[in-house]
Amino acid sequence: MASFGNIIFYSMIILIVLFSALIILLLALAFSDESSEVTSTNTLPIANLGEDILLSCNLNIKIELAKLRQVSVTWEKTNLKGLVHHYQDGAADFVDQNSQFKGRTQVFPEALGSGNASLLLRDVRSSDEGEYTCTISSSEGGGMVNIKLRTAAFTAPKFKFSNGTLVAEASRWFPKPNVTWSDEAGNILNGSTSLKQNSAGIYRVVSTLQPVNVSDTYTCRIENELVTSVSKATVTDTEVFGRTYFTFSAASTLLASIYLSTLSIILYTCYLT
Ligand SMILES: *[C@@H]1O[C@H](CO)[C@@H](O)[C@H](O)[C@H]1NC(C)=O
Ligand SMILES: *[C@@H]1O[C@H](CO)[C@@H](O)[C@H](O)[C@H]1NC(C)=O
Repeated sequence: MASFGNIIFYSMIILIVLFSALIILLLALAFSDESSEVTSTNTLPIANLGEDILLSCNLNIKIELAKLRQVSVTWEKTNLKGLVHHYQDGAADFVDQNSQFKGRTQVFPEALGSGNASLLLRDVRSSDEGEYTCTISSSEGGGMVNIKLRTAAFTAPKFKFSNGTLVAEASRWFPKPNVTWSDEAGNILNGSTSLKQNSAGIYRVVSTLQPVNVSDTYTCRIENELVTSVSKATVTDTEVFGRTYFTFSAASTLLASIYLSTLSIILYTCYLT
């Protein structure tokens, strides 16, 4: 039979365990207290020069319709005078906008209700590179997130096949890329690549592979420190079927992968003439 001392001892232990559980529960409640938070689905985006990019910025709470007019969204760029974009009182406010961004920015009012304050930046230039801050404030909560934008130029290669030579041509690449060819088994093949810069410094890539077997599939990889494009080109008697996907360096998200398909028809006239 347990002594009185033992009963006291075990009661104390049970009490200590119960109190600890209570304290943990209270702490958990305190920290889960509807804290609002602003995040981005991609904090290291890479934009294709001359194209548009969506800089993602999201508040994790929904904003009631009645309170939507009180939401303000501010997009700033580090070391830039003025603002990139400002949205307040239900409309864009361009008073303090830096002229570098004039006519090139937009947030989506219809998306704000779900906390989405993403910025569409049009016609990206290399001077747009840098660190952006998205700040959302509303009566329901707010916050900010930093996004580092980098720029590059990249296009999927087009393939041509004639006289036993496979040619990959990609019109725009920057920074300077490397090209490697491999066969289906992954062996590196000896291609020959020419890179020509245009007046804007963008490279035109022309790479040839020889000899090439009809009905084989070859991989052409064009890559620089920011972007990698991997193309699989299947050569047939009449055409080359090419499939290309892009991946982006560093913390690239699932969104940061685009699939492209290209089909190049071979002109038999090349053979015949
Ligand atoms: C935010 O809104 C834009 C514009 O409607 C849309 O393209 C984007 O996918 C939205 N982002 C999220 C995370 O919902
Ligand atoms: C690759 O091809 C070039 C000419 O196209 C040739 O000079 C060179 O020896 C080849 N290298 C190998 C490893 O086959």
